[in-house]
Amino acid sequence: MTRERTGPTLADATRGRVLFGGDYNPEQWPEEVWHEDVRLMQAAGVNSVTLGVFSWAKLEPSPGAREFGWLDRLMDLMHDHGIGVVLATPTSSPPPWMGRLHPETLPRDENGQIEWWGSRQHFSHSSDTYRRYAAAITEDLAARYGGHPALTMWHINNEYCTFDWGDEAATTFRDWLRRKYGTLDALNEAWGTAFWGQGHGDWDEVLPPRRAHYMKNPTHVLDFRRFTSDMLLECYVIERDIVRRHTPHIPVTTNFMPMWVGQDAWRWAEEEDVVSVDLYPDPRDPLGAQSGALVQDMTRSQAGGGPWMLMEQAAGPVNWRGVNHPKPRGLNRLWSLQAVARGADAVCYFQWRQSRQGAEKFHSGMIGHAGEQGRTYQEVKRLGAELAAIGGQVAGHRIGADVAVLFDWHSWWAGAQDGRLSSEVDHPQVVRSWHRALWEAHLTTAFAHPEHDLSPYRLVVVPQLYLLTDAAIENLLAYVRGGGTLVSGFLTGIADEDDRVRPGGMDARLRELFGIRTLHEWWPLDAGEDVECDGFRGTLWSEEIEAAADADEIVPYKGGELDGLPAVLRKGRAWYVSTLPEPAELRGLLTRAAADAGVRPVLEGLPDGVEAVRRGELLFVLNHGRDEVTVVVPGTHRDLLTGAEVTDSLILGRYGVAVLQS
Ligand code: GAL
Repeated sequence: MTRERTGPTLADATRGRVLFGGDYNPEQWPEEVWHEDVRLMQAAGVNSVTLGVFSWAKLEPSPGAREFGWLDRLMDLMHDHGIGVVLATPTSSPPPWMGRLHPETLPRDENGQIEWWGSRQHFSHSSDTYRRYAAAITEDLAARYGGHPALTMWHINNEYCTFDWGDEAATTFRDWLRRKYGTLDALNEAWGTAFWGQGHGDWDEVLPPRRAHYMKNPTHVLDFRRFTSDMLLECYVIERDIVRRHTPHIPVTTNFMPMWVGQDAWRWAEEEDVVSVDLYPDPRDPLGAQSGALVQDMTRSQAGGGPWMLMEQAAGPVNWRGVNHPKPRGLNRLWSLQAVARGADAVCYFQWRQSRQGAEKFHSGMIGHAGEQGRTYQEVKRLGAELAAIGGQVAGHRIGADVAVLFDWHSWWAGAQDGRLSSEVDHPQVVRSWHRALWEAHLTTAFAHPEHDLSPYRLVVVPQLYLLTDAAIENLLAYVRGGGTLVSGFLTGIADEDDRVRPGGMDARLRELFGIRTLHEWWPLDAGEDVECDGFRGTLWSEEIEAAADADEIVPYKGGELDGLPAVLRKGRAWYVSTLPEPAELRGLLTRAAADAGVRPVLEGLPDGVEAVRRGELLFVLNHGRDEVTVVVPGTHRDLLTGAEVTDSLILGRYGVAVLQS
């Protein structure tokens, strides 16, 4: 499952620079504005725009018609001004005529309701008609612009995320299941349909998991998630193969939503030349920088540790939260440079010019309603100049990580079903807690799939892997046997790939690895409840575990039902943590495990809220706080952002950043 890279890469588009720009939707504006746009783009150092993301209705105003003139002029205009084009296939928003003439292209929700046109992403991944039209427009775009000198990259669709419970999806679901199971008996066995008398006697009885009276069959739902991810991927691959046939030298991407539940991004990333992501941390979130770092670490890991593309972020507020806050002065720069520190070779936005109409008119743009004099554009301009200044030294460089966090969509899907013991356990939140501990300990972290080669890492952390395949379990065992240190959180190794609970309630090989003799019961905690352990408090979950005689170290629960039983267990280099320790405690535990494994933080003694990342030869130091801080950076360096020489220590003001070269 490790990503092979043979075709073109992001480097073919960046050509030694950091790409800077964003989605450009000029069809919303009269052509005079386009000329003003390129002037302002050039002044801001914009070197890349993404065109055509939502242009299908304009490109194909009636079935089979083509209106390319406006796009021809734009491609030329961009090229004349030295701005590269990431050209999108417009297939995420089919024109209204498609839904009107071909209602079967519209997806249905689990209640059978149609998702009508009037917004976007209203297509059925399983519709032959949709796929045919999507392939045709992609073919014509690739034929027309494949040789255009402005073209630097293909952007397929946009944030694939549409589920479909409709009739055509039912047919492709059955086909997918036939390929997977071969026989109905095998399907019934895998889904455990003996429970509640759900055995299917005919393939036509197998449907998407539509609205039902009570809890649905969890393996049915799990397979439907797998199927949905695969069908959307099939749509992507169809279009990718078309553009690749025309332009084998031009890299292809599709933009992920961060840690989005519907898409097995490990699997998808294998099919991309460039891994790209859209990232919108909440400016008010005190842990916004960490949630950004998490997505950046994950995206870089999906890109095999190499450079990746920040396809979209917001220069100011978004408009889809309950309350949408602007970015305070300096925050856009700080978070953009954070992405570069963590491996981005492209810093782009949704969108270039803030719209005056439509659903996102209150979502910021690089140039906002306030125009050229507005703070947002002025800050964008400064950032563009800085990225141009450092781009040559940064682009292409990799980031080393001794620590990996394991993450798997299938495990998330299986663990998030109805009928589980605690709805308080939110998998992304659990992962965030563990990543936060590593981030606050200044340990540079990668993400990996549980079946990846783990030998590059000294420390592997499993926040929670409810479902583990046999191959993954063997991989973990081999990793520890080979000298690796493994720290696992609770509710790990419970189910096999069919979501069947493993004998003993937790896989026997893992129990043996961690020194667990018997797992008697799970004791989930209520919201706000905690449990006392020796030296810390646990939250969210606890477990009634009996240690095996060969466990090396036990930190017990104190008081209550679990008094004296192990909250944390260690056997050799394998740790098991049966609760979620409070943040400082989890950080302490991982710091200790890392030190035992020989992993050191990027810099010692960093003040709180200061992040340090090494990228190639460069050391990025970022102050996420509003107060001035002094950071010890032994040696003599040059700050590429200011040109100043820095010896042994550095002062960073509010949201300050230094990029040090030694
Ligand atoms: C992304 C999307 C963009 C825009 C943006 C607003 O999810 O790809 O088209 O809607 O969000 O934040």
